[in-house]
Amino acid sequence: MTPRTPKPLLAPSILSADFTRLADALAMLAQAERCVVHVDVMDGRFVPNLTLGMPVVAALRRETRLILDCHLMIVEPSRYAVEFVKAGADWVSFHQEADPHAHRTLAAIREAGAKAGLVLNPGTPVETLVDLVDDLDFVLLMSVNPGFGGQSFIPRTLDKVRRLDALRREAKAPFLIQVDGGVGPGNATALVQAGADVLVAGNAVFKAADPLQAIAGLLAEMDK
Ligand code: DX5
Ligand code: ZN
Repeated sequence: MTPRTPKPLLAPSILSADFTRLADALAMLAQAERCVVHVDVMDGRFVPNLTLGMPVVAALRRETRLILDCHLMIVEPSRYAVEFVKAGADWVSFHQEADPHAHRTLAAIREAGAKAGLVLNPGTPVETLVDLVDDLDFVLLMSVNPGFGGQSFIPRTLDKVRRLDALRREAKAPFLIQVDGGVGPGNATALVQAGADVLVAGNAVFKAADPLQAIAGLLAEMDK
């Protein structure tokens, strides 16, 4: 990963896809440009919802060569992070709020061969990761409270993106900034202009009548 990707990427979240047709979703994403596959892992404890685990990630891996971006919304992420790399995840992120030993877990993900990311909930300030800037490949800022797709974007996230961008410039740290939750055509341009490199979008892609067209529209907004 470079300090800023040449052009920002889109990470459609398969949480909003038809779970009986995940292979079709992957085939559709393979036809699109600049997409990675966002996979939301929820344990019913860190967040009030349960989704999927390693076997599903392994199945996705068999079906696609696209980057698999696994967002772990689980307690004790250090117990499972490397298991997700072994299952085929290319990027693995976990919540800072869930791990008192984030430094160690980030290193374990990198040692296992994946890109390591730390996720911050809406109420967690970006300044809390100032001493981890050399240890992560990306930071995911939640722009909704994690747990469900289709929620409304929290506007204050824009300010967090700007502050995180300033922080990485000051530290000369090359991590990417990802934003997740309530992203759509109405805020994609502002997020990229604030410093975001990767935008997650669930409903804005998979609930659209034509997902490929929705992706093209979002990428166009991101390029403005
Ligand atoms: C929420 C998940 C998100 C979600 C995004 O906890 O982490 O990735 O699927 O969905 P939308 O874009 O519909 O808010
Ligand atoms: Zn997510």
